[in-house]
Order: sequence, then structure tokens, then C-alpha cells
Amino acid sequence: MTAIEDLVCPERYPLSSKYDPAWLLGLDMGPNPLWMLEDLARDLELKPGMRVLDLGSGKGATSVFLAREYGVQVVAADLWIAPEDAAAVFAEAGVADRVTAVRAEAHALPFGKEYFDAIVSIDAFEYFGTADSYLPYLLRFLRPGGQVGMATPAMSREVRELGAIPEHIERLFGWEAMAWHTPEWWRFQWEITKQVDVICARLQEHGWQDWLAWERACAEYRPEKLAEYLARIDVLNVDGGELLSFALLAARKR
Ligand SMILES: C[S@@+](CC[C@H](N)C(=O)[O-])C[C@H]1O[C@@H](n2cnc3c(N)ncnc32)[C@H](O)[C@@H]1O
Repeated sequence: MTAIEDLVCPERYPLSSKYDPAWLLGLDMGPNPLWMLEDLARDLELKPGMRVLDLGSGKGATSVFLAREYGVQVVAADLWIAPEDAAAVFAEAGVADRVTAVRAEAHALPFGKEYFDAIVSIDAFEYFGTADSYLPYLLRFLRPGGQVGMATPAMSREVRELGAIPEHIERLFGWEAMAWHTPEWWRFQWEITKQVDVICARLQEHGWQDWLAWERACAEYRPEKLAEYLARIDVLNVDGGELLSFALLAARKR
């Protein structure tokens, strides 16, 4: 099996395995977003017709997945990726009628009060969502009883508890790893607001392995950037799954 073929993993991720790994790798902005979303969605109730915000949707793979697999109406909101580029991905995937691409900054969202039934965010919260005020701000756009779910890079221990960012992580990711909180940190951060009931706060069971599989597949798919992927593979190998993974959080607005 090649590293690219390893991205088809029907026993663990049956829905994601229907997608062409080359298509997904072509939209790469970080470790397998479909695997994270498929895993997270096990703790969400997404029903056809729901209005879902995909916050930090990047090049759009997760928005395509949401529309196709759950039949929801998606607003794909992102800062760095031009909405025209994301819209082209949606048109090619045949979901243009169900997914709208919007340029949006996560602290200045252009949506109506309580507009969404669910808000999903894959590998983006670490950039904008760690401030104490952020969840209450975001919840303004979610209806009462609506769900919020996110996946974000995580460590199994807090940097504050360790006293420093571990050397193997710092040398590649620097201070950004300060935002890679444990699921317990996120649970407390969200529960203390008394505005949500947390449904799950867990490390992705195969998070480290999945991350490694993704970087290996990227190295094979895009050999011109081999050095970049090898550096990440090295960090993951040194880590050995001790600290690095992804946190999955799901909650319901009161
Ligand atoms: C690592 S990429 C992940 C993209 C996509 N969710 C995926 O998994 O492929 C992080 C995304 O977060 C978005 N982002 C970062 N800061 C943001 C902000 N302040 N407001 C909105 N989006 C932001 C970026 O535009 C980027 O597309």
C-alpha cells in the first residue's frame, strides 16, 4: 500500500473513504479534515436541511462532506481562502446549491442572530478560539439548542503544566503550540460560560497516527515540498503519540 492509499480506511472512517485521496490532498491545509469531521460528527446530530456554519473552512473539503453526507445547508466561512476559489471546489463537487462560500473573520461574523442550527470548525479554532470571550461571541449566531463542534490540535498535557513547550514541538511550531490545549482545558473553558452543555471533550482516539498518515501521504503526493513534510513526520516520530493529537469538542447551546 502507498501512503496515499492508506488514506482510504473504511473500517475506521467509512464515510471519508468514499472520497478520492488525491482530491483531498489537493485541498490540503492540515491533517485529514474528513477523518476529524467524521469522528466529531458521531457526537453531533446533523439532520438534512439544517443550517450549518463551517468556520475556518479553508479550501472546502469539510463543507463538501457536510453537504453530501448529512444533507445540510452549509455556509463555508474562511479568512485566508478567496470565496471564489472555494466556490469553484463546491461547483466541481456538485454541491454549489447547498454550500455558500463567504470571506469572514471569526471575530466579525456577518450573520444574523441565532441563524445557525450547528457550527462546525475543523483545525481552525486554535487560530482564533482560545480567548475567554470567544465561545460566548460565537454562540450569538447559534439558535438555542443548536450544536457547536470543533476539532483542534491538542496535547495530552497543558504547556503550563509542563512549564515549557516541549523542545521537539517548539522547534517546528514555536509559540503556536500554546493554543494546543487538552480536551479537559476546553471542557472547562466552555462549561464555565454556563451557556452550553458539553456533549464530548476527548482526544481523537487515533489522532497521532492519523496525523502521521496524513503527513506521509502529503510527502508522497507533493514531493516538491518533501522537506516540509519530513520535518513534521520527524516531530511526530519523536513525539511517538505521547503528547500530540487532536481534541474533539461538541456541545449544545442552552
Ligand atoms: C489549518 S487551516 C484548516 C482549513 C480547513 N478547515 C481544513 O481542515 O482543511 C485553518 C483555517 O482557519 C482559517 N482562519 C484562521 N484564522 C481565522 C480567522 N481569524 N477567521 C476566520 N478564519 C480563520 C484560515 O483561513 C484557514 O483556512
